Formats: sequence, structure tokens, C-alpha cells
Amino acid sequence: MEVWDALRTRLTVRQFKPEPVPDEIVTKLLQVGLWSPSSRNRQPWHFIVIRDRETLRKIGGITTYGPFLADAPIAIAIGMDKRTADRPDLDSGRALQQMEVLAWSEGMGTCFVAFHEPDQNRAAKDIIGMPDHIELITIMPFGYRHDHVKGIRRRRKDLSEVAHSERFGNAYVE
Ligand SMILES: Cc1cc2nc3c(=O)[nH]c(=O)nc-3n(C[C@H](O)[C@H](O)[C@H](O)COP(=O)(O)O)c2cc1C
Repeated sequence: MEVWDALRTRLTVRQFKPEPVPDEIVTKLLQVGLWSPSSRNRQPWHFIVIRDRETLRKIGGITTYGPFLADAPIAIAIGMDKRTADRPDLDSGRALQQMEVLAWSEGMGTCFVAFHEPDQNRAAKDIIGMPDHIELITIMPFGYRHDHVKGIRRRRKDLSEVAHSERFGNAYVE
């Protein structure tokens, strides 16, 4: 799939086919995460591959916004080393976006799952043994997507609402 087509068609996926994700695809997901840029090339990320059904079930049970994690074939937790990360949100966002686009191009999908509440974040970190100096950003479920991604259509603002020419407020497009 061309980059343009992957970016144009990608949607968040919250329901997955039960078929397993091959090891080589998991390795590719990790590889594109590692290839992504980071502030001062610090590469402060850690990726934890989670396949164990009981672990996935437990994590799905503690998130408010990601119970579907429990049914994903695999998930990848993304943690950032607080000791070296200059811009943990930006760096992790770039890595996970590369994974998300690759997954889409492979016929799969994912969804950013947030662990906003401190007690949920702590509980998720405990389950996967993530130490204190690593910030848990998200645990992304991955799996093959159904033909029709359920419930969602691409909803975006009009480009004219967000694109400016030279100075804020000058319309780039009418
Ligand atoms: C930082 C961030 C946090 C998100 N957190 C969640 C979440 O916890 N649960 C969820 O179901 N979707 C989550 N999403 C997915 C968004 O709801 C989704 O990307 C948005 O509705 C646009 O839909 P699309 O990705 O299909 O275009 C998150 C997305 C981002 C970028």
C-alpha cells in the first residue's frame, strides 16, 4: 500500500479478527518504531510485546477507554525513559504512528489506549513489570481488521478551519 493510501484510509481499529499476528510482522512493528525520529536521537522508548491472554485480559479490565484490549491477539506497551526523554509525548507519538501506519498497510489495525487515571497507570505498569523510571504512554492492541471498520467514519474539520497562509487568520484555502 502506498504511503498516501495508508494515510488516507487509516482508521482507529477497536475490533480484531482472532487470527494470530505472525512473528515477522511483530518484528516489523518494533523495527519501524525504532526507526522513528526522536529528540536528540535519544531513542528513549521501550516496547513490550504482550501476547499472554491472561495479561491482555487483566489490562483490558483496568482501562476505562480500552476494554477491547482484552480481545486483541497482541498488544505493544510503549514506555519512555524519564531519565533521557526530552519530549516523551512527541517521541512516543512519532514511534507509535509509524507502527500504526505499518499495521494498517499490512491489513491490521490498532488503537491508542490511554491510562489517564494514576491508579490505572500504576496497575498497568505493575502487570507488565514496568519500572518507575519508565513512563507508560499507552498499550496498543494490534490485530487483523475486519473488512468494514466498525462504527467510525473519518470525521475531520475542514482544511479551511485549520490551515493558514503566512499569518494566523489568513485563509490558506477558501
Ligand atoms: C493521544 C490519543 C489518545 C487516544 N486515546 C484513546 C483511548 O483511550 N481509547 C480509544 O478508544 N481511542 C483513543 N484514541 C483514538 C481516537 O479516539 C481516534 O484516533 C479519533 O477518534 C480519530 O479517529 P480515527 O483514528 O479513526 O481517524 C486516542 C487517540 C490519540 C491520538
